[in-house]
Amino acid sequence: MDPSTSHREDANETTPISPPPSAYAPPASTDPSSPEWRYVTGRRSGYRTRAHANPLAPGHFAVPLSPDSIDHAAWYAGNADVRIRLADIGCGYGGLLFYLSSHRDRAYGMLGVEIRAAVARYCQLTLQRQRAADATAYPNIAFVYANAQRHLPNLLRGRSLDAMLFAYPDPHFKARTHRRRILSRALLQQYVYFLRPGGRLYASTDVEALFRWMLERLDDCPLLRCVHMSAVRTGQSRFNLAEAEELHVVPSQPEEVEAFLQSDVLARAVRDYSDEGQRVARQHGDKFLLVYEKRGVEEERAAGEGDGASGA
Ligand SMILES: C[S@@+](CC[C@H](N)C(=O)[O-])C[C@H]1O[C@@H](n2cnc3c(N)ncnc32)[C@H](O)[C@@H]1O
Repeated sequence: MDPSTSHREDANETTPISPPPSAYAPPASTDPSSPEWRYVTGRRSGYRTRAHANPLAPGHFAVPLSPDSIDHAAWYAGNADVRIRLADIGCGYGGLLFYLSSHRDRAYGMLGVEIRAAVARYCQLTLQRQRAADATAYPNIAFVYANAQRHLPNLLRGRSLDAMLFAYPDPHFKARTHRRRILSRALLQQYVYFLRPGGRLYASTDVEALFRWMLERLDDCPLLRCVHMSAVRTGQSRFNLAEAEELHVVPSQPEEVEAFLQSDVLARAVRDYSDEGQRVARQHGDKFLLVYEKRGVEEERAAGEGDGASGA
């Protein structure tokens, strides 16, 4: 699919529709005046949803009890062979997974995790609509309404993932809301557990302060090694990549950046083809990209012995 085509018809959003009773319930209403119907037809105009959900607040989620209780055939349109190998954390309107679907085979499961009920529902119904038109469409992607800060153990097996994607996570600018950031030292311990040795964690942002925050935490994690970091600055950022050397990571030079993006489809996709990546490009913003790899089995064991990191 051409990444420049978006599933979203406008940026206005909705008042909260009720959380879906179960992840893949059919649309509740066939009444063309209902909010659900607008999702089915792909029209979002006239609706508003909250710009942010608080990941520290309790919510009404209907997540599986464990990864073993996921009904893969139901989530992946009868494709029971699928195994979840990639997670898009905070997937928003899902453009990244719709794009990536054709880059992986049908058994290669990808899961988008989204905390805003209306947004998760939009993804699910968009997928349903595409599959209604063509039963073979997007056999390897699924979306779940869940809080990634709480529910990943219900969804993902340890050491099962090739990749975890964090495309343009919410920046939570104020110091008192930093605890809501999706990438903290404590949560990183969990994310790394879901990655297989050699699996990669991708993080992009257009916010320099968040870039520094993520860089420090990723760099502190003994189970990860940096394979790429870059900043494309078309905006106002004054971040000097040489500063990164103090954090023991080697910044990629401009010519290396393009070569790396050519070699790693996920890196390019996370930076440029997510819905937010396209918005940032339209607005000529900065783009920061971090790619870290989970160390191999031996290194993992050695690092685990001296590892006691925790906190935000
Ligand atoms: C700025 S948007 C980026 C969306 C998408 N990754 C993209 O690049 O277009 C961040 C998304 O993360 C979601 N999010 C924030 N915290 C989350 C959490 N704890 N669990 C799941 N999703 C979360 C938000 O609701 C929002 O849709």
